[in-house]
Amino acid sequence: MGSDPHVTVVADPEALAEAAARAIVEAATEAVSARGSFKVALAGGETPRATYARLAGPPWSEQMPWQRTWVFFGDERGVPPDHKDSNYGMAYRTVLSRVPIPSAQIFRIRGEAEDPETAAAEYARDLATAFGTRRGELPRFDLVLLGLGVDGHTASLFPGSPVVKEIFRTVAAVHAAAATVPQRFTLTLPVLNAAARVLLLVAGSEKAKVVKATLSEPATLPAAMVRPATGELVWIIDRAAAALLPNAGAR
Ligand code: 6PG
Repeated sequence: MGSDPHVTVVADPEALAEAAARAIVEAATEAVSARGSFKVALAGGETPRATYARLAGPPWSEQMPWQRTWVFFGDERGVPPDHKDSNYGMAYRTVLSRVPIPSAQIFRIRGEAEDPETAAAEYARDLATAFGTRRGELPRFDLVLLGLGVDGHTASLFPGSPVVKEIFRTVAAVHAAAATVPQRFTLTLPVLNAAARVLLLVAGSEKAKVVKATLSEPATLPAAMVRPATGELVWIIDRAAAALLPNAGAR
C-alpha cells in the first residue's frame, strides 16, 4: 500500500484555502524547476472554490508559473461547461478565466457529450497525448487535488461502484445514482495513485465522521484507497472536520 497521509489540521475554511493555495504554488514551483512544467488535476465540488479564488489573486497568482501549467480535472459532471454544476465551469469562473494560463493548456472533460463513453475515451487520449504515455502506461500528475464526500467518495469514485476496481482505464464514465448529477466522469484510482503528490481538502463538521472513517479504518472507502504508490499524500482539513480524530482536542 502506498504512502500514509500527512494530515495538517487548520483552524477554519479560510485557513484551509490559504494553506492549500500555498501548497499548490509550492508543488508548481517544484515541478517546473524539476521538469519544466506543472500538470495538475483540479477537484470539483465546493471545498476547493475558496482555494481557487486565492490562486486568482495576489500573492499566489503572481507566484504561479501559469505559462508552464497544464490543467486537467479529476472528475466532471455530465453537464455543459457553463452549467452551474460543472467542475470545469466553477474552476473557469473562479480562477482559470482570471490568470494568464494559455487556453490550450486547459483540458476539460466533455460532460455535455451525447455518449459518455466517447467523452471518457477522448479524455483518456488527451491525457496520453499531454503526458506522452503509451497504452498501459499511467500519466503521472505533479499534483492531484481531491475532495471528500460524506459517503467516502473522492473524485467520482463512489462506494460500491465497479469503477473503484478499474485497474486499466485511466478515465471512466460513471453512473452515480445518488450523486448530484448522476452522470459522472472520473480519473481512476491507478491514475490518482500514480501522482507525485495528492492534496485532499476537507472542511466542515458534516465531514468529521467520514474523515475519521477514511483515516482510521482499513481502506474500504474509495477515498481511503488513494495511497500514491511513490508520491506524497497530504490531507489539509479544518478543525471541524478533524473533530473526531484522536487527540483532536490537542490542536
Ligand atoms: C465532485 C467532486 C467530489 C467532491 C466531493 C466533496 O465533482 O463533486 O469531485 O469528489 O470533491 O463530493 O464535495 P464538497 O467539496 O462540495 O463537499
